[in-house]
Amino acid sequence: MKEVLCFIEQEVMEAFEARGYDRSVGRVSVSNRPDLCEFQCNGALAAAKRYHKPPMEIAGDVAEELKGRRIFAEAEACPPGFLNLTLSAEFLAEYVNAMQAAPNLGVEPVEKPKRIMIDYGGPNVAKPLHVGHLRSAIIGESIKRIGRFMGHEMIGDVHLGDWGLQMGLIITELRLRRPQLPYFDENYTGPYPEEAPFTIGELEEIYPTASAKSKTDDAYKESAMAATYELQHGRRGYQALLAQILAVSVADLKKNYEDLKVSFELWKGESDAQPYIPDMVEKMKEDGYAYLSEGALVVDVKEETDTKEIPPCMILKSDGASLYNTTDLATLVWRMRDYRPDKIIYVVDKRQELYFTQVFRCARKTGIVPKETELEFVGFGTMNGKDGKPFKTREGGVMKLSDLVRRINDQMYEKIMENATMTEEEARATAKVVALSAIKYGDLSNQASKDYIFDVDRFTSFEGNTGPYILYTIVRMKSILTKYAQQGGSADGAAILPAGDPAEKALMLALAGFQGAVREAYEETAPHKICAYCYALADSFNRFYHGTKIMAQEDKNVQAGYIRLLELTKETLECCIALLGFEAPERM
Ligand code: ARG
Repeated sequence: MKEVLCFIEQEVMEAFEARGYDRSVGRVSVSNRPDLCEFQCNGALAAAKRYHKPPMEIAGDVAEELKGRRIFAEAEACPPGFLNLTLSAEFLAEYVNAMQAAPNLGVEPVEKPKRIMIDYGGPNVAKPLHVGHLRSAIIGESIKRIGRFMGHEMIGDVHLGDWGLQMGLIITELRLRRPQLPYFDENYTGPYPEEAPFTIGELEEIYPTASAKSKTDDAYKESAMAATYELQHGRRGYQALLAQILAVSVADLKKNYEDLKVSFELWKGESDAQPYIPDMVEKMKEDGYAYLSEGALVVDVKEETDTKEIPPCMILKSDGASLYNTTDLATLVWRMRDYRPDKIIYVVDKRQELYFTQVFRCARKTGIVPKETELEFVGFGTMNGKDGKPFKTREGGVMKLSDLVRRINDQMYEKIMENATMTEEEARATAKVVALSAIKYGDLSNQASKDYIFDVDRFTSFEGNTGPYILYTIVRMKSILTKYAQQGGSADGAAILPAGDPAEKALMLALAGFQGAVREAYEETAPHKICAYCYALADSFNRFYHGTKIMAQEDKNVQAGYIRLLELTKETLECCIALLGFEAPERM
């Protein structure tokens, strides 16, 4: 189904043409003066230059032509040459009825679906998820859902950080604590125990302990580095241990992500890229891209048009060790080989932007990624506390994600219990659902690249531009629908009638903007556009609701029309929050 703006534009373009002007000037946009009109066209100003005529004359001509067309209630020329357009209530009702009848609320799947891989989450094995990882998970999940809704094939890859010194640190600490385990016996040839020699709780404690020790104890650090080296060069016991660290850690991560309603198609990690490194490096050398510079192997990635210096991409350190870079490039090797994606999106902290510029350029230059495959970096800003500094615990430590989620859940529970008529159990479950909306909406409503302040009180409020406000609006609609059904009402087969007052029309206009909003959010990789859209929609519904007696309406036909409008609004809001990655409870 066509976007409402396309319908309007088509009419306006035809009108320009009918009056002897080129149709291309007839572009229409949503009015930035909603007090004057709903849509506007500034084409007469452009046409004036081309046709050497006063703009008002052209605008007047076209307005005259538009008067006969049923989709407009008003088409007016305004100085110095604007066209102010207002839709007819009949056309608008027709449009929203069609939207209701169409699958996917009228959004047609794209003609040529793309295969898009999306690299997000990026947790590090054995380290607890912290709030820094929250943004990647929330934003990436929403981008994935939006793309899928548009009809693209979206493949999420968690890209685990499972390769590096942290593994050597864990091995070293564990060896100190339990040297008798077979993993540490170099002469051991038997099978290793099936069960991991630690729990996730212990694992989470081991890493920070080991990391702290390595900062003060040089010998300890040496042995961690040696263990990392041995692990990476195939020491059997260590590899078995790595597999167990991974298994325990991934099970815990999955649970955490599940609580956030985030899921991944692929659970690949940095370690999966390692086998591709030798051939990749060899080829870079053979093709003459990689050269030695102060002992390290590098590839130049600067370009003539650069305004700031882009340093070379380092492929191997002077001791032959690979880097974060190398892993990302080798990851691109298997992604291209196994999936041939049309596009790969990275949702990573924006402080890694320069790094990704280097990686992308190097991948293109060396032929790992062909020009047909688009590479997009979506960098996000920092989540700060109310003091404007990166979010910390009260004691000043890094806040674990699970602690943050628990804190918001508790606060939401208190709030719900204040005036609820629910059992404790229902309130707990509801609190969890609403809390998730607070966290996700609080994050997604900001443009991803901006830093933002995680303000628990504001995000959990039932009023204002918040997740709970959107949910509250949906719950309100659900309760009206239940009441209507209880009173024996049925709106099956009824149509939404042309709007009877401005608030009702404004609601329909908001609904008609759905397709455009989703398309823009997709094209600009910008979930915040969905937030802005659903806030405006919820707001126009609440205005309509406060000005209209739905249940007391005596004309059953009119009442059924209201109910259908309400159903469509509910469906649209539910679709939006699904794209954002959360859902609504039955009551709250
Ligand atoms: N594990 C990394 C971190 O915690 C993020 C990974 C981002 N993705 C990537 N392909 N490098 O900072």
